[in-house]
Amino acid sequence: MSIALVILAAGKGTRMKSDLPKVLHPIAQAPMLVHAMRAGAALNPERIVVVAGHGAEAVAHAARQADERAVVAIQAEQKGTAHAVAQARPALKGFSGDAVVLYGDTPFLQPETLQRMLAARNDHDLVVLGFRAGDPGRYGRLVMRDEALERIVEYKDATEIERAITLCNSGLMACDATTLFSLIDAVGRDNAAGEYYLTDIVALARGRGLSVTAVTCDEAETLGVNSRAELAAAEAAFQARARADLLGAGVTLTAPETVYLAFDTVIGRDAVIEPNVVFGPDVTVESGATIRAFSHLEGAHVSRGAVVGPFARLRPGAELADNSRVGNFVEIKNARIDEGAKVSHLSYIGDASIGAGSNIGAGTITCNYDGVMKHRTTIGARAFIGSNTMLVAPVSVGEDAMTASGSVITRDVQSQALAVARARQENKPGRARKLFELLKARKAKRDRGQE
Ligand code: UD1
Ligand code: MG
Repeated sequence: MSIALVILAAGKGTRMKSDLPKVLHPIAQAPMLVHAMRAGAALNPERIVVVAGHGAEAVAHAARQADERAVVAIQAEQKGTAHAVAQARPALKGFSGDAVVLYGDTPFLQPETLQRMLAARNDHDLVVLGFRAGDPGRYGRLVMRDEALERIVEYKDATEIERAITLCNSGLMACDATTLFSLIDAVGRDNAAGEYYLTDIVALARGRGLSVTAVTCDEAETLGVNSRAELAAAEAAFQARARADLLGAGVTLTAPETVYLAFDTVIGRDAVIEPNVVFGPDVTVESGATIRAFSHLEGAHVSRGAVVGPFARLRPGAELADNSRVGNFVEIKNARIDEGAKVSHLSYIGDASIGAGSNIGAGTITCNYDGVMKHRTTIGARAFIGSNTMLVAPVSVGEDAMTASGSVITRDVQSQALAVARARQENKPGRARKLFELLKARKAKRDRGQE
């Protein structure tokens, strides 16, 4: 069956006290909206509609970045969840299949839960996702009769007896799209909030003799974010789960609670992650690699047997081949370090490729930026770059070549050549002793003057 996702994301999120629309606040370095989209992606949706209002332009940009097929429907005024879904109708013109309604601010939804909702659709016309709440608070309540869902009552409109129900509405629904819009057409706003409630379609469906059921999930999955405190709690929950998943998959985390993962971090079995390592987006660490303490990685690929850090920084485009080494206070950006090559201390390697088995001495800098443009440095296999070499790009150093320490390399070095590019040393006999005497005499004179 074809699936269309309708993701509600028009709300302002007043309690966030932010200029950024709520759904764009990040968890594990991806906007909450993107988490919802990724969960929905497991259903292979044919269409994705994001209903945006506050900050619609920024929301649209983020949605399209996550999935270029995403279409944004604008809800100029927030008149309620049913009204929000109705705005998706033009974007779903010509679509036949199921619409699955998601919220942009519930980032923990598991793809399996959506699959279970769809499975339940085989036997029911409308499927609502509910959960047993520890504290049902102000959630809508699911009024069941045996297996059937009779209606949903919003907290504001509920009687004391209904408020005692602990089975709550997550907000998610799955329904044939045509049926959904026809039910929404019948929704009014005669309620405590004066809003068009999506939840009203349950009773309307029952009135039409349609069958409605609730699928339930763990409360943690439906956790919404409304404030900065809840955002921080959501981040903590995400990290706890992601760390546990890695441990379960055979990754060693020496001090799991100090490792920060991104939404898409991939780490292979038998990799070792030491304490206080931070992962930005788009990092893959292969099996058996080691990331030592206090390293920061983003947009990087670390292959088998490579060792990174401690205190290393891998930036986007860092590609470390098998058994390579990137040591302390080294920054790598848009550069490939080939098999077995070593950049062990205090270096910046940017826009470069370093050949297999090369050794890059301490303090080496690829001078990749001339103030206007970026240029590449290419170093062949088995080269030896002396400490404190400045490689002024564009420049290349051939295979088995060497540069002398302290050289400023501005011209290409042929393979097997030694490049020396620094002033020749001159030793002046006895001059140090004379200089010391002169300086001491000056100091003594100055000290007498101060008495
Ligand atoms: C809604 C449900 C409630 C459920 C709860 C779960 C209704 C009427 N109530 O209540 O039963 O227990 O979610 O969290 O549906 N939105 C729009 N446009 C609007 C209104 C809302 O896009 O006009 C979006 C919001 O940005 C948000 C989502 O819809 O992502 C839910 O809206 P919200 O106002 O939080 O609904 P609740 O009152 O929490
Ligand atoms: Mg809410």
